[in-house]
Amino acid sequence: MVTAQTPEVQVIDCDLVIVGGGGAGLRAALAATLADPGLDIRLVSKVVPMRSHTVAAEGGAAAVLRDDDSFEQHFEDTVSGGEWLCDQPAVEAFVAACPRELSQLERWGCPWSRQDDGRVQTRFFGGMRVQRTWFAADRTGFHMLHTLFQTSLRYPSIRRHDEFFCTDLLVDERGLAGVLGVDIAAGTPVVYRTRAAVLATGGAGRVYAHNTNAGIVTGEGMALAGAHGVALRDMEFVQWHPTALPGSGILITEGCRGEGGLLLNAEGRRYLQDYGLGPPEPWPRPRAMELGPRDRLSQAFWQEERAGRTVATPQGGAVLLDLRHLGAARLAERLPMISEVARRFLGIDPVATPIPVRPAVHYTMGGIATGLDGETTLPGLFAAGECASTGIHGANRLGSNSLAELLVFGRAAGEAAAAWARSAPARAGGSLQRDAQAHAQHWYAQLTGDRSAGQPRVAELRTAMQAAMEDGVGIFRDADGMQRACQTLGELRARYSAGLALDDHSRHFNTEWLSAIELGHSLQVAETIAHAALARRESRGAHVRRDDWSARNDENFLVHSLAYCDPEGPPRIEHAPVRLTRSAPAERSYGGAGARVTLD
Ligand code: FUM
Repeated sequence: MVTAQTPEVQVIDCDLVIVGGGGAGLRAALAATLADPGLDIRLVSKVVPMRSHTVAAEGGAAAVLRDDDSFEQHFEDTVSGGEWLCDQPAVEAFVAACPRELSQLERWGCPWSRQDDGRVQTRFFGGMRVQRTWFAADRTGFHMLHTLFQTSLRYPSIRRHDEFFCTDLLVDERGLAGVLGVDIAAGTPVVYRTRAAVLATGGAGRVYAHNTNAGIVTGEGMALAGAHGVALRDMEFVQWHPTALPGSGILITEGCRGEGGLLLNAEGRRYLQDYGLGPPEPWPRPRAMELGPRDRLSQAFWQEERAGRTVATPQGGAVLLDLRHLGAARLAERLPMISEVARRFLGIDPVATPIPVRPAVHYTMGGIATGLDGETTLPGLFAAGECASTGIHGANRLGSNSLAELLVFGRAAGEAAAAWARSAPARAGGSLQRDAQAHAQHWYAQLTGDRSAGQPRVAELRTAMQAAMEDGVGIFRDADGMQRACQTLGELRARYSAGLALDDHSRHFNTEWLSAIELGHSLQVAETIAHAALARRESRGAHVRRDDWSARNDENFLVHSLAYCDPEGPPRIEHAPVRLTRSAPAERSYGGAGARVTLD
C-alpha cells in the first residue's frame, strides 16, 4: 500500500546484489564479474566506497612471504592466537590463499612498501612469530581500498548505487528474493529483485562508546541476516585494540610496535613483562612483550589502570607508546600517518614525545555464520569480511589477518554467489513488490514520531546501549554485569519498538532517520554479544570473566556460540562444535625459550 508518507517502491531487476562497498564488497564484486562478465551486479553502499571503513585500516595484511615463514607457522599462530576456537579447516584454506590474494592486489596496483632490492617489505605484528605483515606505510587500508575501487571501475557490469541504505532482506519459499533499500538523497525506497546477495557490511564496533570504528560501523549486515534466522556465531568475542587515542578512539597502529615501539606505564616501566609476555629483550626480539596478542595487551592495560599505574589524560588513563628511539627518518618512512595524527590531535611530535594510548573496541570477531564460500543457511545469501564468521579468528584475532581475510573470503563469496546467480531461476511476479512496499511503510512510519508523544531521541537510546555494553560486556566481565547489560538492552529494545522522536521529518538526506534505523540493527547485535557472553561460562581469548568462570574450560566450552535473533525478545543461544584438524588445544604461551625471531 502506498501511503502519503511512503512513496512507491522502485523495482530494480538484477542477478547479484553486494551490500557494502568496502574491501570485502569490492573484492566480491570483482570476483563475480571475473567469473561471469554477463552478470548484472549491483554494488549497494550507504557511503561512497572510498569512505568505507576499510580505508581506516593502517598496519597491514598478513600473508606468508619470507623464507623463514610457512603456511604451517601462519596456521599455528592463528589457531593458538585464537585459543583453539578457530575452525581449523577454514584457517588452513585461509593461510594458503593469502599470498595469492596479496599478489593479485599488487598486480592491480597496490603500492606495497618495498625493501631496497625491490621485494615487498614485511613487518612484525602481534602474536606472529615472524615478519608476515605486508604494508603500505601505515595507510594500508587506504591503498588496498583505492586499488580495489579503481579496478572495479574497469568493469561496467558492476553498477554502483552509492549512498543507498539497505533496510531489509526479502525472502520467499525459495530463499533470498530481494534487498530493500532507500536512495538516501531522494528519500525513495528501492527493491533489488535478485537471485543472490553478498553481505559485506563490516562490523559492529559502534555498539560500544569507545571504539576505533567509523560512525557507519553499526552491525547492519549481521542484523539483516539474523532477522531471517541465520545464526550469528561467536558474538561474545569483541576485540579491543590496545593502542587507541583516549577519547577519540583514533587507531594508533600495531605497526608502531611492529617497528619496535615500546609500551611504558606511568613509572616508565615496560609493564607487559608482568603479564606473562616477557622477558624484555633487546631487538632482535621475542615475539611477545609489545608484540603479544591484542587480548592479552588490553587485559594488561586494564590491570595497570586499576593498579594506578597509568598516566592521567582528560579522557581517562593511558600508557605511553614510545617511538622516540626509531628516529625521525624511520617514522617518516614507515609511520607517517601516525606521526601526523599525533601532531594534529595531540600537538606532540612522536620523534620527541611518547603517545598516550589506551584500548578501544576495534573488531567484531564473530559474525554471520558462513561456510568457506561465504554461504549462509539462507539459500542465495552470502556474507564476507568483518560481518561474517568463517571461523578463522576464534577467541582472539591476530592483527593483519583481517585485511587478508576480506580479500580471501570476499573473492570466495563473490565467485560462489556468481555461480548461484547463474543457476538460480529469475525472480518474477508482483508479490515481492507488495512485500517491499509493506516493509518500506514500516520505516517511513518512523519519520512521523515526535517529542510530544514522549518518544525518546536516537541519541538517548544509543548512549544508553553503549554505556550498557561498556559497563557489562567490557574487557573483563562477570555474571552480574552481563545480566545487567542483557536487562538494559531488553528494555531499550522495547522502547525502540515503541517508536523514536525525530526532529527532521523530511525524506531527503535525513541522517537522523537513517541513524534511527541503524540503531535498531545495533541493538539487535548488542543483545547477541551480551547474551552469548553470559552463556559462555569460561574464560578464553578476549572473553575473560572475573567470577566463578575465570578459567578456560575445554571440556564444556571448546564450542562456538550461535545466537538466533528474535525481534520480540532476547536472542536464543546455542553451541556447536569447533572443527579441529591438526592442532590439539594446548596452553597459550608467548615469549621465553624457543620464541626468538630474527630481523633482517
Ligand atoms: O593496528 C592496526 O593497524 C590494525 C590492524 C588490524 O586490525 O588488522
